[in-house]
Amino acid sequence: MRILGVETSCDDTGIAVLEVIESLPRGKAGETPQFRILANVVSSQIKIHREYGGVYPMLAKREHQKNLPIVLKKTLKEAECEKTDAIAVTYGPGLSPCLWTGLNFAKDLAKKWNTPLIPVDHIEAHMLTGMLTQKQSNALTFQQSNIFPAVALIVSGGHTQLVLVKNIGEYQIIGETRDDAAGECFDKTARILGLEYPGGPEIAATAAKFSISNSQFSIKLPRPMLHTKDYDFSFSGLKTAVLYDYQARPKKERESKAYIQAMAHEIQQAIIDVLVHKTMQAAEEFKTKSIVVGGGVAANESLRARLKESARGASIALLAPPPGLATDNGLMIALAGYFKYKQGAYPKNPDQIEADPNLRIA
Ligand code: KG4
Ligand code: ZN
Repeated sequence: MRILGVETSCDDTGIAVLEVIESLPRGKAGETPQFRILANVVSSQIKIHREYGGVYPMLAKREHQKNLPIVLKKTLKEAECEKTDAIAVTYGPGLSPCLWTGLNFAKDLAKKWNTPLIPVDHIEAHMLTGMLTQKQSNALTFQQSNIFPAVALIVSGGHTQLVLVKNIGEYQIIGETRDDAAGECFDKTARILGLEYPGGPEIAATAAKFSISNSQFSIKLPRPMLHTKDYDFSFSGLKTAVLYDYQARPKKERESKAYIQAMAHEIQQAIIDVLVHKTMQAAEEFKTKSIVVGGGVAANESLRARLKESARGASIALLAPPPGLATDNGLMIALAGYFKYKQGAYPKNPDQIEADPNLRIA
């Protein structure tokens, strides 16, 4: 079976075709489904939003409207198919005008193709993508056996949540950010330093050039809420601390490469310290068999390395998205759509589906 995934919750227009491979040894199909990526096209609006240092919903909506037909055509051509057996679309959480644009586009397409339309939770899609393993090139396997209960760390530009996963579809949010998301913190602090949008990859690349032994700067930022007994996060104080440190320095110093690299390194360390500590604390308390990381910030190599090391120390598995699938894309939506499809968890009448900008995983 083939599923089309449509993603427009923020600033990326993503459409993908996922093929579910049914020809597995008997009895195993339900346990470790295998997939093939037939096409996964993402049209990024980064250049447009770069000018403003962030995403403006109405601007993003207009771009989605323009991009969707072009991206669909490209995706179908790459996948060498004219239509799919089902369509999955993000209905929340996200920016309302953007969600509606993708949803209406998918509704029209579902009518035209006479296929089921499956509404997908963007956060669940990030999480399930973390459970994929990429074998060769486009072949993916889903790690479903012996990983539950799991604790999922979802870190994106809009969300930072710790979710207890008892099984696919059985979720409980155990902690989340009280203000800025981790990705948002990367983006906002990058902007203070004069780095480009999105800030996550920029901070990571800049931090990689830092070397402790050579640096004349020793910057110490706070680790907000590191030792609180809950699983909540707070990143806005970190952003303020960066701003104060930056403003207190002479212009020549704060605009020097050495300072920007030292600061980028410390920002990344501070964010990772808090994320890893809280995730491990949750894994311990809930005695989970695995840790799953997902969302755009899961592309961060240092975060993955630190999580991997800590998980190994606790003798539990770390599951992380294959390269290139951490940030928003249509494939993750098709993947989550597949599980909903199998459960029959979608309305028979696509017109009933409404966007839910504040959707919470449960
Ligand atoms: O999941 P995503 O693509 O979109 C949302 O759902 O928000 O996440 C985007 C976020 C941005 O804040 C971006 O700066 C961050 O993910 N990001 C990274 C990296 N790549 C993307 N943060 C840290 N390190 C990275 N390598
Ligand atoms: Zn996302």
